[in-house]
Formats: sequence, C-alpha cells, structure tokens
Amino acid sequence: MATKAAILIESLTGNTWKAGEKVAGLLSQEGWSITGLNRMREPDHAAIQDADMVLLGTWVHGMFVVGQAPWGLATLRSLPAMRDKKAAVFCTFALNPGNSLQKMTRAAWTLGADVIGGLALSRSKLDEHCEIFAERLVVASPATSAPTVAAP
Ligand SMILES: Cc1cc2nc3c(=O)[nH]c(=O)nc-3n(C[C@H](O)[C@H](O)[C@H](O)COP(=O)(O)O)c2cc1C
Repeated sequence: MATKAAILIESLTGNTWKAGEKVAGLLSQEGWSITGLNRMREPDHAAIQDADMVLLGTWVHGMFVVGQAPWGLATLRSLPAMRDKKAAVFCTFALNPGNSLQKMTRAAWTLGADVIGGLALSRSKLDEHCEIFAERLVVASPATSAPTVAAP
C-alpha cells in the first residue's frame, strides 16, 4: 500500500517551501500519495489525519555560525497530536544548521510522533539534497519496510 504523507512547512523566503514541493514531487513519482502540502501555521487537519507520515520542514535562523535554531518551533509544538504517525524533519540553511534537526525532532516527539529521522538541506544544493532526503524516506517508508509475502 502506498505511503500517505502530509507536508507542513515554515518558510520566509521560499527555499523551504520549494524543498517541500520538490520532495512531494519526488515522492509522488515513487508512488506515494501526498495528502497535503500546507504552511505549518495553517495545518490541514484532515491531511494530517489521513497521513501515515508527516514531513515537517523549516529554515535555520541564528547568527549563521552560532545560535542556530529552527524557525517556528512553537508553531511546530502546537500542531495537532500525531500519536499514530511517523514523522521526518528537515530544515534549509545557508552555512551551518547547528543542532536544528535535533531541536525539531524533540518538538515532534512532544506531539507523539515516531520521528524516523531528518536531513538538513543546504539552500545552495537544494535539488540535490531534496533528492537524497526523498530517497531516504522511500527506503525507510512503512510500505517499503513491510514484510513482503513470497509468491507460492
Ligand atoms: C534572519 C535570518 C537568519 C539566518 N540565520 C542563519 C543561520 O544562523 N545559519 C544558517 O545556516 N542560515 C541562516 N539563515 C539562512 C536561512 O536558513 C536560509 O536562507 C533558508 O533556506 C531560508 O529558508 P526560507 O527561504 O524557506 O525562508 C538565516 C536567514 C535569515 C533570514
């Protein structure tokens, strides 16, 4: 059965939104069904409810080499509960994401999600890094890792 994913994005200048769209396209090509691509501030509750996995993306802010944090952690923490969902996190950055992924992972845990991993995507290599992220998601997806029934 195809994995169903909802994607929630926080984006200021468009990079993270673009990454969300790119990953959605790549996953669709792999047979995934995207239940929604929405701003984190305007989550589509039905799309989240319908999904097996939720992808949470935001951008890194700070002083470029120190004090980095994912933007919108409070928004992430106030998303609907995801107790029966897998989740994966990603952030876009310019120089150094610091420990933004760990912070996002902890925030997603508070929603009850089973966070399977995440990736920091450099804004200067966005397409390449989106491809790596999508590939890893496909490998880790519940559908792919489900036991296959051997033909008689
Ligand atoms: C105010 C501000 C602070 C930023 N601080 C950092 C930083 O500390 N480290 C870093 O690698 N990138 C930093 N960036 C770059 C953004 O993380 C990067 O451009 C990101 O892709 C923006 O995503 P968006 O286009 O979805 O808003 C900063 C950008 C802004 C606007």
